[in-house]
Amino acid sequence: MPTRPKHFLQFKDFSLDEFFWLFERTRWIKERFKRYELYQPLRDRTLAMVFEKASTRTRVSFEAGMNQLGGIAINLNRGDTQLSRGEPIEDLARVISRMVDVVMIRTFEQSIIERFAAHSRVPVINGLTNEYHPCQILADIYTYIEQRGSIAGKTVAWIGDSNNVCYTWLQAAEILDFTVHLSSPPGYEVDAARAAVRDVRRYKTFTDPMEACRAVDLVTTDVWTSMGFETENDARRRAFEDWQVDAAMMREARHDALFMHCLPAHRGEEVAAEVIDGPQSVVWDEAENRLHAQKALLEYVVCGRVAV
Ligand code: CP
Ligand code: NVA
Repeated sequence: MPTRPKHFLQFKDFSLDEFFWLFERTRWIKERFKRYELYQPLRDRTLAMVFEKASTRTRVSFEAGMNQLGGIAINLNRGDTQLSRGEPIEDLARVISRMVDVVMIRTFEQSIIERFAAHSRVPVINGLTNEYHPCQILADIYTYIEQRGSIAGKTVAWIGDSNNVCYTWLQAAEILDFTVHLSSPPGYEVDAARAAVRDVRRYKTFTDPMEACRAVDLVTTDVWTSMGFETENDARRRAFEDWQVDAAMMREARHDALFMHCLPAHRGEEVAAEVIDGPQSVVWDEAENRLHAQKALLEYVVCGRVAV
């Protein structure tokens, strides 16, 4: 019997031990890459990438990463596939998973990627859904560790929309043992049932974003309107006005607090230019680390724990 493929559909699909492994492999792979040393465990392997939404970072980091590991990546935009003419996602999964070794999907509802994974012979990686963005938080936490050491016991402030990135931070907090302070405008708060966090100490909600930032180790935010919700743009712009991460909010955080944003960012909306372009911001390292962390992830889901 073939073993079940190792899917990464949401952050909680992996254990603490697996994350420690991935962070260590990320460090090792990044160091070798920086020394221009060839490392190609995925020679002759193929990644298929299915994009139903736009992307810059996810597309480039997966494609470049797969090439650097010795494999190739095939990019499929929805409009270019038979999905756009009604082919069921289950059939797409059955077909492409007979031809490639690993699949990355960016799509709308989580149920779409779950249906794909249920019919896939090979590992499936979530490259963003409406509900989660696990590859982003993998890279973000690696970035935190790189800058400050372990994230266990630390506090992260999430300011703004309770979106896919936010819910992934909540899943990560439970596994990696840190706390999230959440502040969102009325009507956009985290849904406790959806967050499904068993340990109530893992997150705390604040009506005042300044208070949410008080004495935290990391402040992070994201766009006010995520992909797929564009019709709500005007209403959201009005509702989120007081939830811009600015210098005053950063002053509430610890003096050595970091600022992160998954990007793309809108300066003057969810973040002030002086913050994202300021000394506490690590957004460019964060973006770069998508490459290294996802190379570790690809190696792990395709080859398992390689001998080191
Ligand atoms: N952060 C992120 O996933 O960026 P892209 O939408 O450009 O892939
Ligand atoms: N929350 C954003 C993240 C983009 C990388 C979105 O879903 O559009």
